[in-house]
Amino acid sequence: MTAAITALGGFVPEDRLTNADLEKMVDTNDEWIRTRTGVEERRILRGAGKATSDLCVPVFQEICNKRGISPEEIDCLIVATVTPDMTFPATANIVCDKVGAINAWGFDMSAACSGFLYAITTGAMYIESGRYKKVIVIGADKMSAIVDYSDRTTCIIFGDGAGGVLLEPNYEGYGVLDSLLKSDGSGRTHLHMKAGGSLKPASQETVAAKEHFIYQEGQPVFKFAVKGMADVSAALMERNNLTSNDIAWLVPHQANKRIIDATASRMGLSADKVMVNIQRYGNTTAGTIPLCLWDWESQLKKGDNLVLSAFGGGFTWGATWVKWGH
Ligand code: UT7
Repeated sequence: MTAAITALGGFVPEDRLTNADLEKMVDTNDEWIRTRTGVEERRILRGAGKATSDLCVPVFQEICNKRGISPEEIDCLIVATVTPDMTFPATANIVCDKVGAINAWGFDMSAACSGFLYAITTGAMYIESGRYKKVIVIGADKMSAIVDYSDRTTCIIFGDGAGGVLLEPNYEGYGVLDSLLKSDGSGRTHLHMKAGGSLKPASQETVAAKEHFIYQEGQPVFKFAVKGMADVSAALMERNNLTSNDIAWLVPHQANKRIIDATASRMGLSADKVMVNIQRYGNTTAGTIPLCLWDWESQLKKGDNLVLSAFGGGFTWGATWVKWGH
């Protein structure tokens, strides 16, 4: 028995933050942002009281509506995020409360940009074990909550958004077929948030020092990401005897168009087999991969082999092979 994706949902807020807007906020320009990252605009969740759970709720509801089921039928919700509504309780608990998923248990998973891959792999195992029949996995991040909009090296990249899938048992060989997941905690020095955790609780000093924002050393992260994403995707193909001809789509984390191009080239895939929407949403961290699936859903055919691939904070990275089932 495998865990098939039986419904998809996605959500991005309406408010757009364009490169032209950023030109007025920091010392940057549209040409630099486009050529160095591929981003043209990002979506921002504005409004008091709006949080990551509010990105997840429409995703959860779209999934249930498309599948024709009620939230009460969901067994488990996993939310991959690094921008939870609160340190505790888990965003998954809050989402279940907001949508009326009264029979679901759930939890958040923290693996930054690889969060969706970690979570879909975990969710698939719950299905494969036979214990649960309907597991929703959502990748969601309100990155605008942790971006310093005076730091031109990070504010140009990130945006807000969420996407998710419903996993159900399948007996015809469709769904999540293999995952190769990696982590290396020594990479934390290059990409992290300095304060707000138990290491350095929030204080007037941490706020004044802007330590509640993303800290990223772009160049080393770029270097590790190019190698990590390409290596793990190639290794996943090799151990499953997949060649570039077998792959219908690469579904890459949308961190930087140059990282995506390098991964596709290593896998021997032409650009028409690569999902890219970074120009419209930027890097939504755990949201990027399911948002690609959501945008491309109408083009996916039963039996298509997809390779989902990511690299991000932790460091965490990985690749997942999905055979599309509907
Ligand atoms: O998803 C989580 C994982 N994160 C990633 O995968 C991100 C990986 N890193 C990257 O995508 C890239 O490193 C960045 C997009 C963050 C930066 O691009 P880069 O090509 O590595 O630029 P750089 O840091 O080497 O900077 C090149 C130049 C510098 O100027 P000098 O020293 O050459 O005069 C920067 O100060 O570009 C300058 N610069 C900018 N110029 C205009 C940096 N940011 C900007 C900007 N606008 N926004």
